[in-house]
Amino acid sequence: MPTISQSLITRHLGRTPRIHALAACVPPTTRVFVDIGTNHGILPIAIIRARRARSCIAIDLSPAAIAETTRRLQRCRCADRVALRLGDGLLAITATEAHTIDVVCIAGLGQQTIQDILARGLSRLPQQPLRLVLNPIGNHLALRAFLTEQGFLLTHDATVEERHRHYPILVAERAS
Ligand SMILES: C[S@@+](CC[C@H](N)C(=O)[O-])C[C@H]1O[C@@H](n2cnc3c(N)ncnc32)[C@H](O)[C@@H]1O
Repeated sequence: MPTISQSLITRHLGRTPRIHALAACVPPTTRVFVDIGTNHGILPIAIIRARRARSCIAIDLSPAAIAETTRRLQRCRCADRVALRLGDGLLAITATEAHTIDVVCIAGLGQQTIQDILARGLSRLPQQPLRLVLNPIGNHLALRAFLTEQGFLLTHDATVEERHRHYPILVAERAS
């Protein structure tokens, strides 16, 4: 995976190797980056600051997370580049937006939840090339099999260490 300047991401966000590793999996040519389960919104902020995508859509089920992240985006002056949305996974994406999406990230959730989000929402995205950046918590063997069944090729499979814990980072790509 291409690396990006650590300072671009850590300047305002502190040292977050997991977020840095996820951001590094997003190509700088990305038009629209989607972060499902954004919670604190740190990943889309890092993506915008590191100029990895023109714009982001950040989605979360939690009204409290959306309220807190709305304030954070304003403080970080990223509110004009990150569309924050209360909703359930890819179901929060509109048909018009779907055509412009290049990269979808789902991080910090269990493999079954990630699989459910993809199974319910992938049909929202037409058959354009698509990159998934995934950080499943715990075992992810079944998720790998699911991705293959859905026509994705696993192109990156790594582990990042943060605060003495190891986090898997998977990149899966669909050509068309
Ligand atoms: C543990 S946090 C992970 C935050 C961030 N992605 C990270 O990796 O640091 C999981 C977040 O996913 C959200 N979430 C869970 N299921 C979701 C779904 N189906 N659609 C959108 N958000 C969801 C939760 O509300 C929570 O804020």
